Amino acid sequence: MKHFTCVEDIGDLKIAVKEALEVKKTPFKWDTLGKNKTMLLIFFDSSLRTRLSTQRAALNLGMSAIVLDVNQGAWKLETERGVIMDGDKPEHILEAIPVMGCYCDVIGVRSFARFESKAADYQEVLLNQFIKYSGKPVVSMEAATRHPLQSFADLITIEEHKKVERPRVTLTWAPHPRALPQAVPNSFAEWMNAAGYDLVITHPEGYELDPAFVGKAKVEYDQRKAFAGADFIYAKNWAAYAGDSYGKILSKDRSWTVDAEKMALTNNACFMHCLPVRRNMIATDDVIESPQSLVIPEAANRVISAQAVLKRILEENVWHI
Ligand code: CP
Repeated sequence: MKHFTCVEDIGDLKIAVKEALEVKKTPFKWDTLGKNKTMLLIFFDSSLRTRLSTQRAALNLGMSAIVLDVNQGAWKLETERGVIMDGDKPEHILEAIPVMGCYCDVIGVRSFARFESKAADYQEVLLNQFIKYSGKPVVSMEAATRHPLQSFADLITIEEHKKVERPRVTLTWAPHPRALPQAVPNSFAEWMNAAGYDLVITHPEGYELDPAFVGKAKVEYDQRKAFAGADFIYAKNWAAYAGDSYGKILSKDRSWTVDAEKMALTNNACFMHCLPVRRNMIATDDVIESPQSLVIPEAANRVISAQAVLKRILEENVWHI
């Protein structure tokens, strides 16, 4: 694996989960694999879990980790080519990326959808610039359209808790005060479909995701029907994808909040959310705190997914110093 940006990059999911569970069991078995290697974590957007779990994963493998918050202390970066740079951005990304590549061996990048151009977001312009110009393996720490480290952790968590080979997993939209990207639901659908689970996606009309990510999942507009018999409920908000509504909030309808009454319709389902979660918007306090809630083990597995990915990258790449 050269780069990690989507489910295809990890290959066979059964093998990937097996490797991840081995990492979980013996986290320090490979603690010299990353000796003299440095990971640079670049954040264009805020983070708690990704920032900490990816650093911890790198440290477990013997790597050093450097964190750069682009909007705090670094030069503001111009991203458009051809712009006359007479504004407030003194550095161009086309110099900044190769320079950052000089200082590290692996680059992690977080850059959310900007909702300014659907084409630019869905072509992953910024992530692809890092892949093209850094000269180093690039790990997506959530890009415009996908959050693969989160989805890998979600898959590991489901594999640890499932009671049947092919569980029924329901991804439900839930209300939120701000317009959020589709990266988590896109990626979750992509990984659940690749794992061969029985995936149902439920949301109000107008919140249809990109069909390329929905794949063979069933779309059910009646949230209660979608909850019936589910083994896992995965809650997430996202802004509209389709047409002129791209990036817009169409609803804040709190009748879509996940509560105990809806959870009672399920097959005693586990509750999942990638965090951070807005309590009593996305899900009620009692659902998040219930014995069926996996939000903390799911977050803990972010170290495991990151370490499994970095281990593969360290094992499969040759560095020319
Ligand atoms: N789930 C997740 O990616 O959390 P952070 O945004 O805090 O990194």
